[in-house]
Amino acid sequence: MNKAFFRFFCFLERLWRVHIVDGLILRSSIKQFYQVAAGHILFQSLAAAVELDLFTILDREGAQTLPQLALRLGLEEQPCRVLLQGLLASGVVKKRRGRYANTIMSRIAFAGEGPKKMKAAIMWQKHIVYRPMARLLESIREYRNCGLEEIPGQGETLYERISAHPRLEKIFQDSMQEISVQANDLLARYVDFSDAHRVVDVGGGNGTNLLAILQRHPHLEGRVFDLPSVCERARAHFQSDNPSAKLEAIEGNMLQDEFPEGADVFMFCHLLCIWSKAENLKLLKKAHDKLPVGGRAIVFDIMERDTQDGPLAAAMGSPYFLGLATGTGMIYSEEEYEGLCREAGFTEVRRVRLPRGHTAIIATKEI
Ligand SMILES: C[S@@+](CC[C@H](N)C(=O)[O-])C[C@H]1O[C@@H](n2cnc3c(N)ncnc32)[C@H](O)[C@@H]1O
Repeated sequence: MNKAFFRFFCFLERLWRVHIVDGLILRSSIKQFYQVAAGHILFQSLAAAVELDLFTILDREGAQTLPQLALRLGLEEQPCRVLLQGLLASGVVKKRRGRYANTIMSRIAFAGEGPKKMKAAIMWQKHIVYRPMARLLESIREYRNCGLEEIPGQGETLYERISAHPRLEKIFQDSMQEISVQANDLLARYVDFSDAHRVVDVGGGNGTNLLAILQRHPHLEGRVFDLPSVCERARAHFQSDNPSAKLEAIEGNMLQDEFPEGADVFMFCHLLCIWSKAENLKLLKKAHDKLPVGGRAIVFDIMERDTQDGPLAAAMGSPYFLGLATGTGMIYSEEEYEGLCREAGFTEVRRVRLPRGHTAIIATKEI
């Protein structure tokens, strides 16, 4: 092979491999692969940007050059550039004519303050979830939440253990509230509460769900049933948000204690995913026993499709419940929840598909 032919051959091969294979055919798969493989690094860039409030600065002060941004954030230029490399690669900032700006997604999720932001959820991932998830392999092998060992203290679940860490508990409850605010309006809008009188929100957290529901259905009485330290937060929340509403927080352990009396609706919002199917069956049976005829249990959550191939949120949530939160839960499918409701004694079981990957299973007690 003469030299000229060899060079031409190499040129063609490079053209094929660099521009056609990597640049066109595999481009999005390669990007997706690296975003997963380096997800732990890219996540830390995002969390750092959220803590520096970089997205709010870009939103309020407009697109900025690297030196401007470094000065504004009080950083050296090179580490600021390192941060921006990660944010650009993740698609949360864009660069035009040498200036960095927010993307639509980062403006919606991270710029400024407001109940519909995702800042608290990022802090929850960084300060509570991140380290424990490195123990996932052990958790899968041993079928228990090995990641909880990264958080010192007593209690077999994250929910019990976190009550001894007020800073972490606040981060946790703030993020639950942020996530709930975005989801619970769906429940209040699309589920009919007009015939209901008293709703008990089992594991209702700081009361965000009940407050949203009572805003649309002020005739209701509501009770959160949760662990003692969480009930304190719920009472403070009720007092500051809607002091005249008929809202209470009842302390108890849902696995061990009786459910409160007098409810005609028991809600299980983002809750049954934390427990095993056997535990869920017990909880649904306890609700069934306490309800009058015509009373309802409402299971509201992100649910897996019956074909068990999505959505993405199922794949993100399940390892957290297995590896950290309880070691027994996962994102179950809609038909699994329906089956549990029937097994618990509910005769009419309806599925209501809602936006944002949520489903409400409405189970009614009949004679
Ligand atoms: C995933 S959070 C869901 C919070 C809320 N329902 C929502 O939709 O955002 C689970 C809730 O269950 C509560 N919880 C966990 N274990 C509990 C137990 N054994 N007894 C009572 N509440 C518990 C936690 O304190 C937390 O508020």
